[in-house]
Amino acid sequence: MRNILLHFHPVRVNETSIHFTRTFGLGGMAALLIVVQIITGILLRFFYTASPAEAYNSVVFLKNNVLFGPFVRNIHYWSGVFMLLIAFLHFLRVFFTGAYREIRAINWLFGLVLLILVVFLNFTGYLLPWDQLAYWAITVSTNIISYLPLVGESLRVMIVGGKELNADTLQMFFTFHTAVLPVVLLVVVFYHFWRVRKAKGILMPQTQDEIKMVPVMPNLVFKEFIVALVLMAVLSLFAALFDAPLLEKANPAYSMNPTKAPWYFAGVQELLMHFHPFFAAFIIPLGVVVFLAWIPFLKYDNAPNGHWFISEKGIKSSKSTAIFAAVVTLLGILFNEFVLNFEILLSWMPAVISNGVIPLLILLALMAGFYRFYLKDFKLTKEELVQAIFVFIMVAFIVLTITGTFFRGKDMELTFLWIG
Ligand code: HEM
Repeated sequence: MRNILLHFHPVRVNETSIHFTRTFGLGGMAALLIVVQIITGILLRFFYTASPAEAYNSVVFLKNNVLFGPFVRNIHYWSGVFMLLIAFLHFLRVFFTGAYREIRAINWLFGLVLLILVVFLNFTGYLLPWDQLAYWAITVSTNIISYLPLVGESLRVMIVGGKELNADTLQMFFTFHTAVLPVVLLVVVFYHFWRVRKAKGILMPQTQDEIKMVPVMPNLVFKEFIVALVLMAVLSLFAALFDAPLLEKANPAYSMNPTKAPWYFAGVQELLMHFHPFFAAFIIPLGVVVFLAWIPFLKYDNAPNGHWFISEKGIKSSKSTAIFAAVVTLLGILFNEFVLNFEILLSWMPAVISNGVIPLLILLALMAGFYRFYLKDFKLTKEELVQAIFVFIMVAFIVLTITGTFFRGKDMELTFLWIG
């Protein structure tokens, strides 16, 4: 046991690096959830049949006739949701402690790959119950692909394996969900851990004090054990109280209203309500991914100092940028919904300009104005400026996701609170 632990940890660690508030145990929690997913996933596979005729019935059978069947299914469902949320929080913690640069740059990139893998593990699993929710959520999400220029529609047909979801789609999603993606995830996670070791542990603020090293056992391992226990308790509670969704069997002839993408794509779906699809489904998401992958390789003025939000200035500018982003996104949604629709107002122009280029330029102008008339006075360093842009993107993404998930009801109209 000790030997196994020492593959993951060094013999001794910096005492301050194991304070809970340094990492909140998020990376370790994500790792534990992978194990939970694999074990419960194997158990579910004993009962599941991946064919449109049988898939739904096999899930109903598991729910009604298998001892602990619903509990195992709920744990698998909730650990998938938790994993995505926790991996996202871990990604924020890594960014806001500045641990995405220099020796950690490659691990940041592999972390992005992990985040994408976790999204697609959730996505491929979503279809498997083959109920109305799964069928229509995957239909709208895969339809988003057809908005990609030139290759969009052929790519969608290739991914779906036909014009509409069918037996081949289910078989393919099943294979990706249960074999391809878990194997790739495991390989990347082990590499990710190895790179943390290679960077000599997590990034710590520089200090004049002498660094106190303590044995990893029991100091760190005991804390990890407590975090694991609490996580498992919360997960079990969720699994006991809230069932994984299962509506009636999929009916391709009768679409759901509203037809919503899974919640992690609700932000992109919301964006599609305000921007031309070429911008909402392609230019903006691509821009964000390129920005995230690029930031470790920019030339910065100082080495990362390991402090949360870099500095006092960094904290203040992040707070005001967060408020600005929340207000702009919310007002933008409301304004576009109730006051001004560029596509109708400028109907003589190609929609890609009236509803793509123009709103994007307005958004960029607002951001530039916020910088020129407010942030500039902070005299931010380059890393603090990158942090402010990151905050803007994350807050806008969160507001869009919450709006799409909870405030879109029948016919995708803005609704006060929608609980599906
Ligand atoms: C399945 C998902 C993931 C797992 C299991 C995982 C696991 C871990 C663990 C256990 C650590 C050690 C420190 C800690 O617990 O915070 C760590 C560190 C790190 N992770 Fe992840 N991670 C995942 C996703 C990500 C993502 C999405 C990113 C960012 C894009 C990322 C970037 C990093 C970096 C740069 C470090 C080094 C942090 C430092 O030196 O302070 N990881 N990860």
